Amino acid sequence: MNLSGKVALITGAAQGLGKAFSESLVSRGAKVCLTDIKVHEGQITTEALKKNFGNDAAFFMKCDVTSEKEFANVFQAIKSRYGRLDILVNNAGIVDEKNWRKLIEINLLSVMQGTQLGIETMSKEHGGNGGVIINISSAAGLTPVFNTPAYCASKFGVVGYTRSLADNLIHLRNGLRFCCLCPAFTDTDIIKFSENSTVSTKEIGDKIIKSVGINKVSTVADGFMELVTDENNNGAVMTVTARDGIQYKYLPKSKL
Ligand SMILES: NC(=O)c1ccc[n+]([C@@H]2O[C@H](COP(=O)([O-])OP(=O)(O)OC[C@H]3O[C@@H](n4cnc5c(N)ncnc54)[C@H](O)[C@@H]3O)[C@@H](O)[C@H]2O)c1
Repeated sequence: MNLSGKVALITGAAQGLGKAFSESLVSRGAKVCLTDIKVHEGQITTEALKKNFGNDAAFFMKCDVTSEKEFANVFQAIKSRYGRLDILVNNAGIVDEKNWRKLIEINLLSVMQGTQLGIETMSKEHGGNGGVIINISSAAGLTPVFNTPAYCASKFGVVGYTRSLADNLIHLRNGLRFCCLCPAFTDTDIIKFSENSTVSTKEIGDKIIKSVGINKVSTVADGFMELVTDENNNGAVMTVTARDGIQYKYLPKSKL
């Protein structure tokens, strides 16, 4: 995919991976709508992009992905502003085993909500131009992690949901691709295990990190850009680990 003139929506883009994905896309000529519940951080991130790449390169909207209304408003705003949407990245996520219902709502149900809105906006069947939907899962979406079962459940769900959509030929015919990105531990705030973490989540998490290492954000962003630009990868599930770098867990049938 040539990114010049393409338009992207990224959830949870104020910081961390979403911020890095936004920077990578804008620096390659795409326009990006950054959304997050963290308004101040989101605005600072977006202003920096506008300063470097021009006023029209990016805009920020407050969006709690658990609010269907706020989420739908973002798609409307993008249509009014840029007239198209080509890349949707369902990235917002949390680790909070104590509040596992909230975790499932953000990490899984809102990814499904965003994907549905993306299909309605981007599918050629509905007057869109097609494009790619990238759902951010995790290495914990492919392997059990005993101290974060709810997080695992949410991320396994994202992989199953995304791969199922990729297998639907109707979407393929309407110009849509679906991919999953599954990074292992990466150097962002989410692995600082906030006050919402149980003691065991934090202690064990820190131990696992010591043994497996931490991805650089830039390596995950490189993998992300490969998923965005390779138009022949519908159904791909990419892993990124400190030890093995960028690899594919599942490849589209066309590449096997
Ligand atoms: N960093 C890692 O080790 C790692 C590994 C695998 C997967 N991931 C996934 O990558 C994604 C991005 O995480 P990150 O590492 O950048 O962490 P992060 O905590 O830096 O960023 C997550 C962002 O999501 C936002 N967010 C949280 N709840 C939201 C809501 N209800 N609505 C909108 N935005 C919300 C936060 O405000 C934050 O800006 C997450 O889905 C996470 O599960 C991260």
